[in-house]
Amino acid sequence: MRELFATLGLDPEKETLGRRICRHKADGLVQAMEMALAEGGPGAAELVAAESVVEAETKDHLNWELIGEVAKQLPADERKAVKAAHDEVEDEEDEHLYHTTGWTRELWIDSLGLPAVLPPPEEEKDVKTAIGAARAKQARKELLPKKKAAAA
Ligand SMILES: [Fe+2]
Repeated sequence: MRELFATLGLDPEKETLGRRICRHKADGLVQAMEMALAEGGPGAAELVAAESVVEAETKDHLNWELIGEVAKQLPADERKAVKAAHDEVEDEEDEHLYHTTGWTRELWIDSLGLPAVLPPPEEEKDVKTAIGAARAKQARKELLPKKKAAAA
């Protein structure tokens, strides 16, 4: 983003409403993790941290999707610069969201005392697309640890 700002002649330090709101939300996530740790211990903190990462990555994912949409409307020179940045990170951002969502789901399932797939299928299958994430989620049943046969 900073490289792109430099290319476009934008000030990356400019304080905007969106930036203040983002900071406010991030502070809230940190407070939630601290609250979970103080009152619920490390297990609760891990769950809240995982959820916080999913929330942040969801917004990150949306932002890059919007940047891709904006790029289409820009004059050629700017479009080229924005598209290059977009192409460079979009796949990584997709991956961040799918993998963190998988971790959070399985950590929650585990915390509920149910059989979990850890690391999650999204991680094991190196998921990079929405379709891949849906397939990985469906495949979790096959990846669950097999139940031992009941003793006779
Ligand atoms: Fe990300």
